[in-house]
Amino acid sequence: IPVDPFDFIIFGGTGDLSERKLLPALYYRQCDHQFSEPTRIIGTSRSKMSDEEFQAFARKAISEHVAKEDIDAKELAKFLERLSYVAADAVSGTGFDQLKKKIGESDRIRAFYLAVSPSLFGDISHKLKEHKMITPNSRIVVEKPIGRDLASAHALNDLIGSDFHESQIFRIDHYLGKETVQNLMALRFANALYEPLWNSAHIDHVQITVAETVGLEDRVTYYDKAGALRDMVQNHIMQLLCLVAMEAPSSMDADAVRDEKLKVLRALKRVNGTEAPKETVRGQYRAGASAGGPVQGYVEELGSPSNTETFVAIKAEIANWRWAGVPFYLRTGKRLASRVSEIVIEFKPIPHSIFAGESAGPIFPNQLVIRLQPDEGVKQFIMIKDPGPGGMRLRQIPLDMSFAQSFKGRSPDAYERLIMDVIRGNQTLFMRRDEVEAAWKWIDPIQDAWATGQQEVQGYTAGTWGPSASIALIERDGRTWHESN
Ligand code: BG6
Repeated sequence: IPVDPFDFIIFGGTGDLSERKLLPALYYRQCDHQFSEPTRIIGTSRSKMSDEEFQAFARKAISEHVAKEDIDAKELAKFLERLSYVAADAVSGTGFDQLKKKIGESDRIRAFYLAVSPSLFGDISHKLKEHKMITPNSRIVVEKPIGRDLASAHALNDLIGSDFHESQIFRIDHYLGKETVQNLMALRFANALYEPLWNSAHIDHVQITVAETVGLEDRVTYYDKAGALRDMVQNHIMQLLCLVAMEAPSSMDADAVRDEKLKVLRALKRVNGTEAPKETVRGQYRAGASAGGPVQGYVEELGSPSNTETFVAIKAEIANWRWAGVPFYLRTGKRLASRVSEIVIEFKPIPHSIFAGESAGPIFPNQLVIRLQPDEGVKQFIMIKDPGPGGMRLRQIPLDMSFAQSFKGRSPDAYERLIMDVIRGNQTLFMRRDEVEAAWKWIDPIQDAWATGQQEVQGYTAGTWGPSASIALIERDGRTWHESN
């Protein structure tokens, strides 16, 4: 269904995010005929550039980041026609008059997308206000990192919040736009099957893994200052944890969902300085082999010594009635053995086996494995009788719901969904201010414990599942990481 015409203004229009994600996502929405006339996309950054040059930049971005078979010459031409460019400098303010002129006085929806360093968020937002470009129909979109701790997140939120109303601020966590992440809500709340079992009486523990094979990529300056805890845990992993653990919201209304997520964040047990060495693991990859070839260690890739973690494992606990005593084991890292993101819900063992004398073999607890990427799908592991006359032998098999097999066609990128939600004004999949700050409140003590207790990073060979301490973290409790292959 087409949405109302809008102006989409990308600050950092010629940057990496715009090239890899935003322009390709907008192109796909064009192909699905979601734009009404006169929808416009305006790129802006400091460099001088003509409209034609920006269009050429977009054409190249699309040819490199959109599948060949999805490039339709007619749609591409229509898409490029929507594009124009204005050079503007957020610090000095030059170019904002021209930008204002370009946008004009319409009351069309305006989305200002800040694909720039967070250090510019305040300047851009204030300049938009000074130049009276913020209309009731305007929204601002900001990307993580929203701060590097609670205090800086608070300050950033204050800066933007002084110009835009909270209902106009869209804080992106692109994990929330992933099909399978949204499917988590469908699985929990559109089925009667799971919810009665979704608590400490029936669930033994939960695992959340977001493993990557990539290393530093081209993000040296950002990543070395951030590290995996700030880059992945504070946002993506905590959002996944919230969706697994939250109570049923009364509706999909943005505040109904975000209220429930907030309660989970607030109920997370703080990890203090003495617990941190036992309940958290920091790792950093050393040289090894990944994606079929030898790779350098983090420090060599960086070119200087560093104590930044590229791997984190945490045993988290949610102190409320539903989850008391159910550990949530979280782990994420770069240069791991394979690229896989998944959530594993392990149910409690059966209370008594009737098969004891039958040489039936072990009875494994039921597991629900929600695979977020790649090979999206859900597997429910259950025990069955091995077919055949050999007596009662038991076997574990997965009831397998692979999305690729069940649904034909392309799975849209997270940004396609999220950009259109911005235009529609739907904040359900965006983080509210108090959520971001509550997440930092849990992260800060861990970060402090690491800094003050000097918890050094532990090396792990690239292409493995992280430091041995991560295996020890879960095995100490008599459990094992689900083998994600
Ligand atoms: C980003 C992180 O938010 O998410 C990156 O900054 C990480 O370090 C990326 O690589 C992972 O996203 P995806 O969609 O590839 O799982």
